[in-house]
Amino acid sequence: MENKFLFVCNFKMNYVKPLSYKKAINGEQLSNLILLPNFCDIKSFRRYKKNYSVSIGAQNVSEFSSGAHTGEVNAEMLKKAGADYCVVGHSERKKYNLESLAQTRKKVVELLKYNITPIICVGEEIVLSVNNEQKQADYAKKYVVEELKIILKDIDASKVIIAYEPIWAIGTGKVASKKHIQIVISAIKTYAHSSKILYGGSFNISNYKEIVGIKNLNGALVGGESLNPHNIIAMIKQI
Ligand code: PGA
Repeated sequence: MENKFLFVCNFKMNYVKPLSYKKAINGEQLSNLILLPNFCDIKSFRRYKKNYSVSIGAQNVSEFSSGAHTGEVNAEMLKKAGADYCVVGHSERKKYNLESLAQTRKKVVELLKYNITPIICVGEEIVLSVNNEQKQADYAKKYVVEELKIILKDIDASKVIIAYEPIWAIGTGKVASKKHIQIVISAIKTYAHSSKILYGGSFNISNYKEIVGIKNLNGALVGGESLNPHNIIAMIKQI
């Protein structure tokens, strides 16, 4: 998995049949593919770990380790179910569940106790008053580094993956420009040089070739396009 471009597929709250990925994988060993189904389907997907080297993860975890937290799932439960990765701090959790950076940090701590690799999402809202590309990117890099300062406080950066997802690019069909991504990725690299870094936000089969070559970029966090297993496997084979 070391140097291969990672494809982290976040199905969100969409049902994806395990069989649809099995058909698209078609017997290949794909150690750079990480699938993030809903909690209930983690066990259905985990057989692909053994059969095709695919990794499985979750989309969220509780910040608590146990106790009276109705509806929550802790890191130990995820590990037992078969998850080796888990997304934290996704912008949809910040928006709909008001997840704070301090909570995201607690989730990272919980995951690391169970050897689950946290995939930490950071990213800025668009600033409409800034219409200059360089200024927008400068704003973005400062914003994400401030987020990382809180989330990674006293955390070993080599144990986490950081996903740069500009909020305005998520699910909108608007991809950040190559220059913008480059500027922000290089700031993340300077701050957390031992972390792997992903880009996310409307990444798909028609724009991936532009993005994969970006310096210090180790992979993509893919939402909408992950519902199309054939396109995911086609991109993996092309790279
Ligand atoms: P998208 O989602 O690819 O549909 O923009 C990315 C994400 O939310 O991680």
